[in-house]
Amino acid sequence: MQIKDKLFVVTGAASGLGAATAEMLVHEGAKVLIVDLNQEAGEQFANFLGPNAKFIQADVSSEESAKQVFKLAKNLGELRGLVNCAGIAPAVKVLGKDGPHPLEIFSKTIQVNLIGTFNMCRLAAEIISNQTAIEDNERGVLVNTASVAAYEGQIGQAAYAASKGGVVGMVIPMARELAKHGIRVLGIAPGIMETPMLMSFPQHVQDALGQTVPFPQRMGKPREYAELVRFMLTNNYLNGEVVRLDGAIRLTAK
Ligand SMILES: NC(=O)c1ccc[n+]([C@@H]2O[C@H](COP(=O)([O-])OP(=O)(O)OC[C@H]3O[C@@H](n4cnc5c(N)ncnc54)[C@H](O)[C@@H]3O)[C@@H](O)[C@H]2O)c1
Repeated sequence: MQIKDKLFVVTGAASGLGAATAEMLVHEGAKVLIVDLNQEAGEQFANFLGPNAKFIQADVSSEESAKQVFKLAKNLGELRGLVNCAGIAPAVKVLGKDGPHPLEIFSKTIQVNLIGTFNMCRLAAEIISNQTAIEDNERGVLVNTASVAAYEGQIGQAAYAASKGGVVGMVIPMARELAKHGIRVLGIAPGIMETPMLMSFPQHVQDALGQTVPFPQRMGKPREYAELVRFMLTNNYLNGEVVRLDGAIRLTAK
């Protein structure tokens, strides 16, 4: 599909991978609806991107909040895609010093990362399925963000890995079902990316993390994630797949 002049919803787009994606889309001539919990950062970033970017504060894990997002999206243009980047990454052991893993942290992680991703997909699919088909009978694309932790979660990542494993697992059933509507569904499993989440670590920890990547021996750049989104949107034959973007890293236990 051509990105220019289409509308895309990007969640978690006030920061990191989502922000880089929104920037890429605006650069390519698209309109973007930035969705994030963080109102201040979201508004600032939308202003920075200019008139083709709008911001709405929303919680992806809330049914009501997500409905407001797509109500607004309907009025902004021809919705052709959703990129789900909103996420949280708690690090908690199953049996830690303070006792067993708090159940509410596990539930919250599943609620935001997995249910939030699904919540946005189902509502985007409804609108996109009602659009006219464009080239190759395509109507739109859903891109979900998993993590390499979906495959080899580290100690402390039981909740995070479970949520991202769920994101990986729903790519193929959604791609199969939504095929009849001309909607492709894809996933990206990033390794260690240079976003605010990781940039808050001390420099020596960041350097050490970078050294664990086989090649290139550094953290991934948000623009490299955005480039993969661009490729996924424009290559119509890519569907039902989760692509690792990780410099060949395989996470160790710790
Ligand atoms: N940075 C990495 O190394 C890395 C690696 C693998 C996967 N990921 C995944 O990529 C995605 C983006 O991560 P990032 O590094 O850009 O993180 P980030 O913390 O920079 O950005 C995440 C954004 O999501 C927003 N958000 C959180 N909960 C939300 C909710 N309920 N509703 C709406 N917005 C919400 C936050 O306000 C924030 O702006 C996440 O799903 C993360 O798990 C990141």
